Amino acid sequence: MADNRFEIAIVGAGYVGLTTGVCMAEMGHRVRIFDIDELKVASLSNGRVPFYEAGMDESLNRHLVEGNVSFSTEIIESVSGAHFVFLCVPSPASVDGSVDIQALCNAAEAIGPHLTARAVVVNKSTVPVGSTEIVHGLIGRDDIAVASNPEFLREGTAIEDFMHPDRIVIGAATAATQQRVAELYRSLDAELMLTDPATAELIKYVCNAYLATRLSFVNDVAELCEHVGGDLEDLTRAMGLDRRIGPHFLQAGPGWGGSCFPKDTTALNGIADSVGYDFRLLREVVDSNQRQFERVASRAMRILDDVGGNRVAVWGVAFKAGTDDTRDSPAIEVIERLIRAGVSVVGYDPKATFSADGFEKFSDGLEAAAEADLLLVLTGWPEFAEVDAVAVGEAMRVRYVYDTRGVLDLNEWQAAGFTCEATGRLATWAQGPSETSR
Ligand code: UGA
Repeated sequence: MADNRFEIAIVGAGYVGLTTGVCMAEMGHRVRIFDIDELKVASLSNGRVPFYEAGMDESLNRHLVEGNVSFSTEIIESVSGAHFVFLCVPSPASVDGSVDIQALCNAAEAIGPHLTARAVVVNKSTVPVGSTEIVHGLIGRDDIAVASNPEFLREGTAIEDFMHPDRIVIGAATAATQQRVAELYRSLDAELMLTDPATAELIKYVCNAYLATRLSFVNDVAELCEHVGGDLEDLTRAMGLDRRIGPHFLQAGPGWGGSCFPKDTTALNGIADSVGYDFRLLREVVDSNQRQFERVASRAMRILDDVGGNRVAVWGVAFKAGTDDTRDSPAIEVIERLIRAGVSVVGYDPKATFSADGFEKFSDGLEAAAEADLLLVLTGWPEFAEVDAVAVGEAMRVRYVYDTRGVLDLNEWQAAGFTCEATGRLATWAQGPSETSR
C-alpha cells in the first residue's frame, strides 16, 4: 500500500456501492466492485451506468480507462488482496416495516473465508443497531475488524456529497480500527467523527429522521398558511435566516419520499418499538407526510371542480429533481390518488419514467399540457421554470397552474393569463379561472 493507495473491494454495485467505488478511485485507491448481477456487471464494465446521476458516467469511464476500477461477479477474486472491503448491499424494509438485513448477512458469510489477513470490513448499508457485531460474528475471524461508516449521499449530488462531506462517521470497537478506516479518507477535507459502532449506526437513521421531521413541520406550516393566509416563501426565508435554524431543507412540497426517508423513518420507529420505546413524535412525522399527499390531491380535485374539468397535466414524477428515481415518489402518491378519483392524468418528467393504468406519459412538457384543465407541478425540476408560460397557456383548455414545489415564477404565469395556486398560499390568492379563447 504505497503512498496510501489501498486495494479496495466493494460488495454491491448499486447506487451507494458505485458512488463509493468511483470516489475511492478518485481519491487514488484501486477498486474492485463485486455484484451478483451479471448483466449489471457487464454493463458497468463497459462504462454504462444503469441510473442517472450527475457526473457518474464521466467519472466511471475515466477510471475504467485508467484501470483504477474494475467489476466482477466472482467474490473470491474481488475480495482477496483487498485491504478494505466495503459492504454496500440493499437493506430493504420487510413486510412488517423492520429492516431486512439478509443481504448483509449473506455478504458477510460469503466474504469471510476469502478475506486477506487483517483486512477491515466496512459497512455502508443502512442497517439497525447491532449489525456491525452481527457481521463480525458471521465473518467469524479474529484477525478481521469490522467498522460502520454510514453514507450521507443524496441522489443527484452523490459524487459531490462523497468528495465534500459535512463529516465522516466511523464507528468501530477499537481506536486502531477507527484510525485505519480514517486513513482511507485522508485526502478529504472533512471533520472525522470517530465513535462506537452502535452510535455510528444510529447517526445515519437519526439524521434522515430529523430531516424528515423538519420537512413534515414545514409542510404542516404550509397547510396552516393555506388556511389562515401568509406567504410560505417569505416565512421559510425568514426562518432560514435564523442561524440556529439555517436555510436548508425548508422547501415545502407534496410530501417527502425517495428510497431513504420513508424506509429509514419506519425503521427507526421499528428500532424504538423493539425496545418498548414509543417514538410518538416520529410516528406523527410519518403520518403527517401521508396527509400531504391527500392535501395536494384534494386541492387539485377542488380546482378541477371549480373549472369544470377533468384532465390534469402533471410535471414531474421523480421523487425529487436531479434523479430518475421514482421510489416512494410523492408525485406518484398524488397521481395515484387522482387516478383513483377518476381524474384523467397525463404527465412529463425530464428523466424519470412511470406507467400506470390511467396515466399517459409525454416526452415534452408542452405536449403534456395540451387540452389540460390544470397544470400540476409535482417535482421541482429547474427546467420547468424555463418553459414559456404563454405557449403552455395556448395549449391548455383552462389556464390554471398549481405549483406544489415553488419552482415556477407565478407572477410570470399570472401575466400569461393563468390562475395560480401554490403550496403555502391561500387558495383565494388565485384570481378566478380564465378560459382560453380557443
Ligand atoms: C437522503 C439524505 O438527504 C441523504 O443524506 C442520505 O444519505 C440518503 O437519503 C440516504 O439515506 O441514502 P435522498 O433520498 O437522495 O437523500 O434525497 P433528499 O435530497 O434528502 O430528499 C428526500 C425527500 O425530501 C425528497 O422527496 C425531496 O423532494 C424532499 N425535500 C428535500 C423537500 O421536500 N424539501 C427540501 O427542502 C428538501
